[in-house]
Amino acid sequence: MKLVVSLVALSLCSFSVLAKNDIEAGRIKSASCVACHGAEGKVSVPMYPNLAGQNAMYLEQALAAYKKGGRTGGQAEVMRAYVSNLSDEDFSDLAAYYASLKP
Ligand code: HEC
Repeated sequence: MKLVVSLVALSLCSFSVLAKNDIEAGRIKSASCVACHGAEGKVSVPMYPNLAGQNAMYLEQALAAYKKGGRTGGQAEVMRAYVSNLSDEDFSDLAAYYASLKP
């Protein structure tokens, strides 16, 4: 099963895929987000926002805005550090994953 998951993640690099695969790829890519945003997108530390069940388009745009500097102030700098090396495809996968979770 793990191998299948890895192959799906790899195939994302070169092929356009179904939304289901985006969600799975997003789940894998969310490993670095768990510390602050919780294992299922629900936080235990109230200074961080919950992400589970949020609209995918909103999440994708928020991530892109942190990267491009469109979101500043507050704790935006914290987020910028985590998204500066990610691509638009990563944002779309992460957004699909968090949107798929139950709030
Ligand atoms: C060190 C803690 C930390 C980590 C790790 C982290 N975040 Fe965040 N995240 C924050 C904080 C703090 C905010 C609020 C920033 C602000 O004030 O705009 C935030 C905001 C967000 C928002 C905007 C939420 C909203 O409602 O507007 C999204 C989306 C998000 N994070 C996704 C992610 C993703 C995806 C990852 C992993 C790639 C990640 N974060 C990693 C702390 C973190």
